[in-house]
Amino acid sequence: MPVKALYPGTFDPPTNGHVDLIQRGAKIFDHLTVAILVNPVKNPLFTVEERVEMLKEATAGLGNVSVATFDGLLVQFARNQGATAVMRGIRAISDYEHEFQMALMNRRLAPEIETVFLQPAGRYSFVSSRMVKEVFSFGGDISGLVPASVIKRLSARINNGIAT
Ligand code: PNS
Repeated sequence: MPVKALYPGTFDPPTNGHVDLIQRGAKIFDHLTVAILVNPVKNPLFTVEERVEMLKEATAGLGNVSVATFDGLLVQFARNQGATAVMRGIRAISDYEHEFQMALMNRRLAPEIETVFLQPAGRYSFVSSRMVKEVFSFGGDISGLVPASVIKRLSARINNGIAT
């Protein structure tokens, strides 16, 4: 049976670490949906529409990857989509505790859905959306850490005086 997986996250903005994981996930799942959580409480820099566009641009070459948004419970969205796996990235052991907790909560809510952890390439193990925004807002070089389209959008934000 074809396996559909979700890759959920905030993606504010997507990084090359996210894209690296999406490429890896696309190889092992029949279909991978990048699922952006709509959560205004997190006060994101980019609108959900902008994040959808950036992720679509970054994954344009991957035929079995789509981009969607969700609110509410992840496992409910997974069930609605017919997904049986949730993919998350582990960059370092420090990520594991929180990820493990989320995976077990999701398993309690939906035992039929498995969480699968993948590791991004080592060169992205220190990259996070938060740090990328911070470094860029102070004029630091983030080339190679995020897709080119993300740098363009971040530049537009900074030029408009709206940073992190
Ligand atoms: O990129 P992030 O912020 O680490 O992603 C976190 C995310 C979106 C995967 C997580 O917050 C989530 O799944 N939220 C939806 C609400 C939910 O299902 N909560 C219960 C499981 S923790």
